[in-house]
Amino acid sequence: MRASTLTTLLCSLPSAFSAPSQPPLTNTSALPLHFGLLLYPGFVALDAYSVVDILNTLSLEYSLAATFDVIAETETPVSTIPRASNSTFGQAVVVTATYEEYSASEKPLDVLVVPGGYDSRSAIPAAAPFIKVVYPRLQYVLTVCMGSFITAESGILDGRNATVSKVNWKNKMARARKEVHWQTPARWVTHGNIWTASGSASGIDMVLAWIGHVYGKPVADYLGYEYEFNRAKNATDDPFAEIWQS
Ligand SMILES: *[C@@H]1O[C@H](CO)[C@@H](O)[C@H](O)[C@H]1NC(C)=O
Ligand SMILES: *[C@@H]1O[C@H](CO)[C@@H](O)[C@H](O)[C@H]1NC(C)=O
Ligand SMILES: *[C@@H]1O[C@H](CO)[C@@H](O)[C@H](O)[C@H]1NC(C)=O
Ligand SMILES: *[C@@H]1O[C@H](CO)[C@@H](O)[C@H](O)[C@H]1NC(C)=O
Repeated sequence: MRASTLTTLLCSLPSAFSAPSQPPLTNTSALPLHFGLLLYPGFVALDAYSVVDILNTLSLEYSLAATFDVIAETETPVSTIPRASNSTFGQAVVVTATYEEYSASEKPLDVLVVPGGYDSRSAIPAAAPFIKVVYPRLQYVLTVCMGSFITAESGILDGRNATVSKVNWKNKMARARKEVHWQTPARWVTHGNIWTASGSASGIDMVLAWIGHVYGKPVADYLGYEYEFNRAKNATDDPFAEIWQS
């Protein structure tokens, strides 16, 4: 290649690879307005914040006129430390609404995020009935990791495809709700308005795909670049399915 050809090529790079700029929202119809994060003691912080942190950024960058509640059984701040643990290592999140506030009224809720926990089973008795009650008013449910097991116990996943983290897959499937069509490999699964992600970090892939679905693909791509996150190629791009022999 002659030097002059190389110079021409290099000079053309900036325009061919110009830095991304924030794209406009391409979908302004019926965007979700009311978001909720379901929490319980022992929730996995990344399960919750893989999704919520990106929603925080989306909301700030696009000045979304949306509301956000941290919803739990009681008003007590919810710690990442499971109830049964003696540990003092963890962090608590302030609760802004209780299950009762949403169950007892038609208080609007469009998107519910359900994270997994270190002892997800302990959350089921209070959380599953709550999910069942609010589901009819929701536009979307987004679960991460064992959040799908909690959600499954509400019955709303019966007859649907869903996934969960691939760690200890065979043991998990032995106690999984049988009415749900558990999928592997799957980085995340969409069935109707319920989106379920695999392990904690896969929540980022799922929420970016969800943002692409609702707010437009350029918005999701832009957020992925801002977070400098290597996104999964598609919903079945799941190397952990093989690692965990699921
Ligand atoms: C809590 O600490 C006590 C005293 O060290 C110990 O006997 C018990 O097994 C611990 N419980 C859990 C759940 O770790
Ligand atoms: C559910 O999963 C099955 C098997 O993977 C697939 O054939 C089917 O299309 C999926 N259904 C939906 C609604 O995605
Ligand atoms: C626009 O948002 C609505 C409501 O979430 C959704 O159902 C629809 O698929 C989105 N449309 C496009 C073209 O992204
Ligand atoms: C999804 O991505 C994986 C990994 O790049 C690839 O092997 C697979 O063919 C893709 N599947 C579809 C349906 O595009």
